[in-house]
Amino acid sequence: MLDMERIPTHVAIVMDGNGRWADKRRLPKMAGHNAGMKAMKEIVKKASSLGIKNLTVYAFSTENWKRSAEEIGGIFKLIVVYVDSELRELHENHVRVQILGDYSGLPTASVDRIRRALAVTEKNTGMQFNIALNYGGRDDIRRAVTELAALVVEGKIKSEEITEEMIGEHLWTGKFHANCGDPELIIRTSGEMRLSNYLLWQSAYSEFVFTDTLWPDFTPEKFEEALLEYQGRNRRFGGR
Ligand code: FPP
Repeated sequence: MLDMERIPTHVAIVMDGNGRWADKRRLPKMAGHNAGMKAMKEIVKKASSLGIKNLTVYAFSTENWKRSAEEIGGIFKLIVVYVDSELRELHENHVRVQILGDYSGLPTASVDRIRRALAVTEKNTGMQFNIALNYGGRDDIRRAVTELAALVVEGKIKSEEITEEMIGEHLWTGKFHANCGDPELIIRTSGEMRLSNYLLWQSAYSEFVFTDTLWPDFTPEKFEEALLEYQGRNRRFGGR
């Protein structure tokens, strides 16, 4: 049984395996992403009902631009479909949408829906749903460094006064951006055991749960199982 007193405040997910799910069924890749979006909808509802404060999903990485134009366009179209079909319910459930990453270069229709989702849910105080879009962990750190360097140039801070905390504040997850902090738990589906440039700085003390389940088959029940596995871990943060 899940211990409701020890629900992690921030869970991050690498939604991997959409392509293999489609291959297994001899369907086009987009059918896999479509099924992946449906799985994501259910996990958002489940996470929100469990009282998780922050759910972060890896929807599109800075490396995903290497995929075919057709697949990239398809994923961006799914953002439009998702916002058009889900924004009302997200808002009714008090979910606040945030984006980790620079989405300004996406197609206009996607940018338009993202802006709408951000604006409509801006004041919501329920779960924060962070969508990592055009996100890369190294790029995240590079951007934070750029912001801090600008503050040094402007004479607002001294370079030797830069702390780990300040770097964290300038990351996409930090207080100057989505303000969701570091995830206690990172889940990756589809049997791959790597971070793939996700939340590099933020995962310093995260627990990892890997499952062989392909993302479209990742049900709310499997999400609960991952939380149970997390609750069985002993987090020491380098101490005793
Ligand atoms: C990884 O599977 C998945 C992605 C790169 C895209 C994830 C996108 C969604 C779940 C769509 C919903 C997104 C939004 C924001 C509406 P893969 O294709 O790498 O799987 P494979 O490793 O089996 O090929």
